[in-house]
Amino acid sequence: MRRLLIIGIGVGNPDHLTVQAIDALNRADVFFMPDKGEEKAALRHLRQEICERFVKEARYRTVDVTIPRRAAEGVDYHAGVDAWHASLQAKYEALFAEHLAEGECGAFLVWGEPALYDSTLRIIERIAAKGLAIEWEAIPGISAVQVLAARHRMPLNRIGSSVLITTGRRIAEGFPETADTVVVMLDGDQAFRHLAARADLEIFWGAYLGTTNEILVSGKLSDVAEEILRIRRRLRDEKGWIMDTYLLRRAAPG
Ligand SMILES: C[S@@+](CC[C@H](N)C(=O)[O-])C[C@H]1O[C@@H](n2cnc3c(N)ncnc32)[C@H](O)[C@@H]1O
Repeated sequence: MRRLLIIGIGVGNPDHLTVQAIDALNRADVFFMPDKGEEKAALRHLRQEICERFVKEARYRTVDVTIPRRAAEGVDYHAGVDAWHASLQAKYEALFAEHLAEGECGAFLVWGEPALYDSTLRIIERIAAKGLAIEWEAIPGISAVQVLAARHRMPLNRIGSSVLITTGRRIAEGFPETADTVVVMLDGDQAFRHLAARADLEIFWGAYLGTTNEILVSGKLSDVAEEILRIRRRLRDEKGWIMDTYLLRRAAPG
């Protein structure tokens, strides 16, 4: 039987690894290191730092995995994602055949929390469903959402209220009627700018959370939207990549 560990590593600060994650790192024979375009150097560096710092005996191997780019969004979003997952599945199957021997343990160091906007668990499930004898375990990690809330020193939910976590693509359709608080991830298009005329919304924004480049802005959306757009553009140009997450909520009465 081959074994796989899907380990959440946080979003930029190695101090955010859990004790359980560190134990898991020490069980791995081989680390599969994803390589994802522009942000690759920074993210790869963090993964390497984590292995060097936390693995007690450096007997492990590392294998680079070039992640194929998802095709630009067509008419059918779900079909596009499914095709992308199929290509990832084929890639992982080939990697396991070549680099993970029977009885060995492989690990994926997943950015943030594996259960949140990450496909690794879905792909592994697809591979197992096809019949590959594989056992796998997910180890939770600290998500960008948690770091955002901690750095703004705020609870995510208002008392007794719910929180919706969604994508930029979704929030571009409008602030959900029934929502009080919305956390937005994966927003390459700064969808909040479409809501900037609304005087009733507050934003709590964070980029490069957990890293030494972390930057935070908060305030009434109509007051700070332009400033966030400006900062975001500058940093993205300077570094070649950016990851940001933000919380939008209706301002409390009064
Ligand atoms: C593919 S999702 C992965 C989310 C990850 N699994 C998590 O738990 O945070 C990538 C999105 O997470 C958010 N993100 C990840 N790392 C971040 C960071 N260091 N600072 C701000 N946002 C981050 C951004 O919204 C980015 O578009």
